[in-house]
Amino acid sequence: MTYAIIGFGKIGHALARAFARSGIEVSVATTREAESFAADAAAIGLTIVPTTLAEAVKADVLFLAVRFESHWEVAKAAPDWKGKTIVDVTNAYGVPPEELDGKPSSMFVEQSFPGAKLVKGFNHLVADILDQDPTVHGGRRVVFLASDDDGAAAEIGALAESLGFAPINLGGLSEGGLLVQARGRAWGRLIFKDLISLE
Ligand SMILES: NC(=O)c1ccc[n+]([C@@H]2O[C@H](COP(=O)([O-])OP(=O)(O)OC[C@H]3O[C@@H](n4cnc5c(N)ncnc54)[C@H](OP(=O)(O)O)[C@@H]3O)[C@@H](O)[C@H]2O)c1
Repeated sequence: MTYAIIGFGKIGHALARAFARSGIEVSVATTREAESFAADAAAIGLTIVPTTLAEAVKADVLFLAVRFESHWEVAKAAPDWKGKTIVDVTNAYGVPPEELDGKPSSMFVEQSFPGAKLVKGFNHLVADILDQDPTVHGGRRVVFLASDDDGAAAEIGALAESLGFAPINLGGLSEGGLLVQARGRAWGRLIFKDLISLE
């Protein structure tokens, strides 16, 4: 299984640090040449591989860590997305519901990546918290996952465990997933809730 993080801003860095802590290789890409952020990637860890967007989208699992408005640009980087799993970390806060055709933002994002299985996740914590070692207070920090594909949710759940988090599956995107969706001026009720699993 190969992994990539698309977007290497605050959330991209936090995710990269989680991969580095766990010793799992992950590519990172932005719109820029890889050389421009290679030193930054190296400072996080040896398993963080700076690359181009065109190379990064060849991974099996892609974390979408760009602003919501940039997801269309990322979607143009591959002709189709069959067989890939996209982890949608974007928050569409400020995007009017009518611009999303009234859908949950992740369903809207999913449409832009035909053939991909989409899992909403890792998006409910501010970057400074996501950045921290998830082993805290005698337990593991919770990440919420939601997907209309049970297999993809299980796959990302297993990855979240490998990264040290305690995943909680909320169900489908338009069901439990709404608890971690942002759109318009509304945040889902679980967004910003920093929970620790003591199991
Ligand atoms: N910050 C938070 O606390 C937080 C918490 C939860 C969720 N989120 C969500 O996570 C996402 C990322 O947030 P952030 O705070 O990390 O944003 P950010 O710091 O602005 O980083 C965005 C990254 O995306 C890259 N990028 C932009 N357009 C791109 C494209 N077409 N292809 C590839 N890379 C592209 C940017 O690099 P270049 O422009 O240099 O190419 C930059 O590295 C957002 O959707 C946000 O809502 C953020």
